[in-house]
Amino acid sequence: MNSIFTFALTFISLVLAAPPTTNGTRFSIDGKTGYFAGTNSYWIGFLTNNRDVDTVLDHISLSGLKILRIWGFNDIVRKPSPGTVWFQLLSSSGSQINTGPDGLQRLDYVVQSAEKRGVKLIINFVNNWSDYGGMPAYVTAFGGSKEGWYTNARAQAQYKAYISAVVSRYINSSAVFAWELANEPRCKGCSTDVIYKWGTDISAYIRSLDRNHMITLGDEGFGLPGATSYPYQTSEGVDFVKNLGIKDLDFGTFHFYPQSWGVGNAAGPAWVKDHASACKKAGKPCLFEEYGTSSDHCNSQRPWQQASLQLAKEGMAADLFWQWGDTLSTGQTHNDGNTIYYGSADAACLITEHVKAINSS
Ligand SMILES: *[C@@H]1O[C@H](CO)[C@@H](O)[C@H](O)[C@H]1NC(C)=O
Ligand SMILES: *[C@@H]1O[C@H](CO)[C@@H](O)[C@H](O)[C@H]1NC(C)=O
Ligand SMILES: *[C@@H]1O[C@H](CO)[C@@H](O)[C@H](O)[C@H]1NC(C)=O
Repeated sequence: MNSIFTFALTFISLVLAAPPTTNGTRFSIDGKTGYFAGTNSYWIGFLTNNRDVDTVLDHISLSGLKILRIWGFNDIVRKPSPGTVWFQLLSSSGSQINTGPDGLQRLDYVVQSAEKRGVKLIINFVNNWSDYGGMPAYVTAFGGSKEGWYTNARAQAQYKAYISAVVSRYINSSAVFAWELANEPRCKGCSTDVIYKWGTDISAYIRSLDRNHMITLGDEGFGLPGATSYPYQTSEGVDFVKNLGIKDLDFGTFHFYPQSWGVGNAAGPAWVKDHASACKKAGKPCLFEEYGTSSDHCNSQRPWQQASLQLAKEGMAADLFWQWGDTLSTGQTHNDGNTIYYGSADAACLITEHVKAINSS
């Protein structure tokens, strides 16, 4: 009796302790395989008030959202005034990773707070865009061009050193959902081999550091069959189907911003379906990782969520809207036009109703 009890407890804790994983084309979190909802907060790791971090994670977990995607980078080329958070100083005369209280200790707090609430994090390592440094900051420090970043030996050596610092810091955390190579990597006008080779090399490197957590690319999902409009093309150097074949990438990601991409809101359901088909074929889950519109959030985005949930066993595994909004000690968080504020009518539509639909599916 006693030993059966002990065995059962050990079994339960093993299942609970198992990191998030894939299960065919679906995700398994804390032993539960299903469809999951989540969101993005690029700024949570840069907050300086622990209570604000807890407030956000309380609200996210109370909402039934399981996955939170965050920026695990904050690259600079010149030291800011004290009190401003930065994670990595890039310099050709010696880069520096900031493990101090205005550095990775801010990210530590997010990870600890997420652990306590059972929220799982996607941690991203570099931006394509210049916000929080990104590839342009590496180019400032090490020379070359944005398109050359993927093959610039000095830039890649420092990027890998940064990845190693972050992965080893959180390798045992129950809050890690996946490591993500970059936010929206693009290489305009390049052969799709550039990002394919870089993705192959970096994902293998991360796997060599951490065998237990999932790894993903973080791209917008450009370049796939189904239509001929801009996002379906490979002009940004991204081939979604080819990249899905990379051995150490566990799932595919795609985004949807119809206004920026010159397509209509109505193109959303087909965009979801075409990615789901590619993921199903590859036998890997698809994550609808960012989506947003600048107006009419509920009516525009609900059909995209519904299309994704409908394909829950046909390639789609989860969706994360862009972006989470909340009220902190400093007031409302950044409103980029896409923000869905906790407690708002938009949140009732795109979070509460969506989570309810997931739970009853
Ligand atoms: C994978 O999913 C199947 C079907 O839902 C389930 O029976 C199995 O236990 C899952 N495996 C893991 C490791 O979660
Ligand atoms: C992101 O990448 C694309 C393609 O390389 C480029 O056109 C764009 O300028 C990049 N953004 C920044 C800010 O570097
Ligand atoms: C993670 O766990 C391993 C094995 O128990 C241990 O050797 C390592 O020091 C831990 N790393 C951290 C950052 O806690």
